[in-house]
Amino acid sequence: MSNDGVNNGRRRFLVAATSAVAAVGAVGAAVPFVGSWFPSARAKAAGAPVRVNISKLEPGQQIVAEWRGQPVFVSRRTPEALAILDENTEILADPNSEASVQPDYVDQTTRAIKPEILIVLGICTHLGCSPLFRPEVASADMGADWKGGYFCPCHGSHYDMAGRVWRSQPAPKNLPVPPHSYESDDIVVIGADEETA
Ligand code: FES
Repeated sequence: MSNDGVNNGRRRFLVAATSAVAAVGAVGAAVPFVGSWFPSARAKAAGAPVRVNISKLEPGQQIVAEWRGQPVFVSRRTPEALAILDENTEILADPNSEASVQPDYVDQTTRAIKPEILIVLGICTHLGCSPLFRPEVASADMGADWKGGYFCPCHGSHYDMAGRVWRSQPAPKNLPVPPHSYESDDIVVIGADEETA
């Protein structure tokens, strides 16, 4: 491949990545957070739970919350995305999340309490970059074999739509699932569950 080809490919990827970040930001701005109480900045830094309103989160969308100063990805998966989780598990390093971090009460395949709602820390398990949300199957920048998931732009780690990392990637583990619980159908509380109550 010529240098032109490499540069054009990289340019296309960067444009797509920028668009993805902008789209995620727009979604995040469009989905309001619950105002029943807001922990102070000091309390949040110390680990106070954070309530997130998921009532306007559409299938295929993600919002980014903040808990303990870390990004938390909250996405609503489509039925198609959920169906794919049981396929091609041989490409995953830890398909049952046995060596990864998540509470006991999440399902080991969907890595969620409610199958459609995935909640993971937005921090790559390699060196801590924030992976890009790429939910579209066979998207132009990720390629025809892409089944949707997360891509870390720092060193190229791939994760599926459950935050499970592929084999032979720089990242060694799946994206961590933080403790969380549901206050209602629309309100998820990140950082609080029966074990932390
Ligand atoms: S920090 Fe994500 S692959 Fe290195």
